[in-house]
Amino acid sequence: MKKKITVLKGDGIGPEIVDEALKVLDKIGEKYGHTFEKDFVDIGGASIDKYGVPITDEGLERCKDCDSVLLGAVGGPKWDVIDPAKRPEKALLKVRSELGLFANLRPTRMFAQLKNASPLKETGIKDGLDLMIVRELTGGIYFGEHKTYEENGETIATDLMLYSEHEIERIGRVAFETARKRGKKVHSVDKANVLDSSKLWRKVMHRLAEEYGDVEYSDILVDNTAMQLVRNPSQFDVIVTENMFGDILSDEASMLTGSIGMMPSASLSSTTLGMYEPIHGSAPDIAGKNIANPLGTILSVAMMLRYSFDMIEEADAIEKAVDDVLTAGYRTGDIAGNDENVKKVTCSEMGDLVCSYLS
Ligand code: IPM
Ligand code: MN
Repeated sequence: MKKKITVLKGDGIGPEIVDEALKVLDKIGEKYGHTFEKDFVDIGGASIDKYGVPITDEGLERCKDCDSVLLGAVGGPKWDVIDPAKRPEKALLKVRSELGLFANLRPTRMFAQLKNASPLKETGIKDGLDLMIVRELTGGIYFGEHKTYEENGETIATDLMLYSEHEIERIGRVAFETARKRGKKVHSVDKANVLDSSKLWRKVMHRLAEEYGDVEYSDILVDNTAMQLVRNPSQFDVIVTENMFGDILSDEASMLTGSIGMMPSASLSSTTLGMYEPIHGSAPDIAGKNIANPLGTILSVAMMLRYSFDMIEEADAIEKAVDDVLTAGYRTGDIAGNDENVKKVTCSEMGDLVCSYLS
């Protein structure tokens, strides 16, 4: 098969981790006879420095004109001080919205080999951890009107959280369909004791829950979810929630596994065009040192093969190679812990190792 991938390396550790993921992708191409053509587009601070905007219109068009998008990370202190409308993060939101990437899948799985890195190793996750966060990605408070204005001599700021029924229904369907292929359990997270948008969210989810009678369904409030994730995360299978709650809860959940550096994500649309990226940020403090963990990005490539290209065997092969590399004891700094028996490796060595376990 021949596929065209738009690659957005971005800022900070973005370029390093994406390079390793591309090595792995090329290895898959070689092994399974696929051609992956790449189109490199600047995004975030890298684009601001060159063009004065976090992504150009032309760059955005190139993200639409491909089979799938691979992203590293955007942002950094250098661009924190500029006009909020031009911040690196704006480009990310623009790509999500212009490509219609409404469903963000964030699998949160604990690798048995990394159990010691989890803060809950003695308590909450004795039985392991494998949950999927389905985050609504193109609506809610991220995309409602943002306004700052003066009134009675003081500044007032407002951000609107808005959801329509069809936005809730389509993300709900993704969650129920995902649950059907996993543990057949959905927790829908909201704040229906306070917010109107959550009351509507709950109403639509209840309608879907009846339709998907084979899936066990529960409502849960977002504050309680934050607590339950720490208390007993194994109770969850699929968590579906609105944009900002999903942003916060997915960071929390990823930490339970020991390292955010391992976590991939897929942002899906109603077509096969998706965007794939690790959930961690640009980590400017370690950028350029070749010590970042590329596994979150490599696993994002596996998700790309699985969800956008239907290359299941190839995706499984990458996930297995990552597993094998960990079992063999190789670790980047973030997942090395205090264990003296592990073999500490750099970012590029980790990419090479995954490739070698693929052959
Ligand atoms: C994420 C990030 C983004 C978000 C930022 C960079 C805008 O935190 O993908 O989780 O809030 O969605
Ligand atoms: Mn986030």
